Order: sequence, then structure tokens, then C-alpha cells
Amino acid sequence: MEVFEAIKTRRAIRHYKPDAIPEDKLNAVLEAARWAPSWANTQCWRYVIVKDKKTKAELAETIRPGNPSYSAIKGAPVVIVACAELGKSGFFDGKAVTDKGDWYMFDVALAMQNLALAAHAIGLGTGHVGAFDSSKVARILDIPQGVAVIEMTPLGYPAEEAALPPRKELTELVFYESYSQK
Ligand SMILES: Cc1cc2nc3c(=O)[nH]c(=O)nc-3n(C[C@H](O)[C@H](O)[C@H](O)COP(=O)(O)O)c2cc1C
Repeated sequence: MEVFEAIKTRRAIRHYKPDAIPEDKLNAVLEAARWAPSWANTQCWRYVIVKDKKTKAELAETIRPGNPSYSAIKGAPVVIVACAELGKSGFFDGKAVTDKGDWYMFDVALAMQNLALAAHAIGLGTGHVGAFDSSKVARILDIPQGVAVIEMTPLGYPAEEAALPPRKELTELVFYESYSQK
């Protein structure tokens, strides 16, 4: 699939078929995440792949009530839990280089969007799921100190044609030369 088409037609998928994903497809999307850019190539991202039904059900229970991705985490054949080693991205000689401190959220987001686009290009659905209790997820998955749980991404064959949420127009988003000029 052409890159612009993948960017435009990827959607957050919240309902999945129970069918298992071939291992080569799972590896292909992880490989896409591996090639994302990161701060000074520090690659702070780490992934926990969850296929166990009971663990997926436990992960779903960490999600905020009313979240539309509850059944996606419970029902998708695979859940990828994206984590980050802290204190790597945005640091030089152990000190934060910018006023933003740790850039792990940025790096993990780049990798997970690579993964989402690659999945879409090979016929798989994903979603970025961030609204959950990350300390509970950390306990369920034995995540060590110094590693943050960032997002959970269901992965599987879509069981729905997801609606297209509208986007703001470029005229609302883009400034030329300075923020005071449209
Ligand atoms: C950082 C982040 C966190 C998100 N968390 C959730 C979530 O907890 N539950 C959910 O159903 N969707 C979640 N989403 C998906 C967005 O709602 C979705 O991407 C947005 O509505 C645009 O839809 P689209 O991805 O189909 O273009 C999240 C997206 C991002 C980028």
C-alpha cells in the first residue's frame, strides 16, 4: 500500500475477528516499529506481546469505564503493550537536554504509529489505547522499575468498517513564518 494511502485510510479499530495472526505478520509490524527514529537512536521502546486470553481480560479491566476499546483489548488475538525505558530519550551525560525532560512519549509514539501504518498496509487493524491504569498493567505484566507502560495496541483482523473522524483543516493548523501569521 502506498504510504499516503496508508496514512489516510488507517483507522482506530475497536472490534476484531477472533482469528489468529500469522507470526510473520506480527513480526512484520514489530519490524516496522523497530525502524522508527528515536532521540539519538536511543530506542527506549520495549514491547510486551500478549496472546493469553486470561491476561488480555485482565488488561481490559485496567481500562477506564466507557472506553470504546475495552472489547478490543479483550477480544483481539494480540495485544501489544508498548513500554519505555526511562532516562534515555532526551538525555545527554545523564542530564535532560531540553525543558521537556524525558522524550520517551515522543519516541514510543513514532514507533507505534509506524506499527499501526504497517499493520494497516497488510490488512490488520490496530488502535492506540492510552486511557488505562498503567500501574495495574505494570503489575500484571511484571514491568520492572524504570520502565513506563505507555499504550496498549490491539492487533488483529478488523471486524468493522470504522467511521472516519473528521480532521481540522490545514488553515486552522498551520502558521507561516510565525505563530501570529496564517
Ligand atoms: C495517545 C492516544 C491515546 C488514545 N487512547 C484511546 C483510548 O484509550 N481508547 C480508544 O478507544 N481510542 C484511543 N485513541 C484513539 C483515538 O481516539 C483515535 O485515534 C482518534 O479518534 C482518531 O481516529 P482514527 O485513529 O480512526 O483516525 C487514542 C489515540 C491516541 C493518539
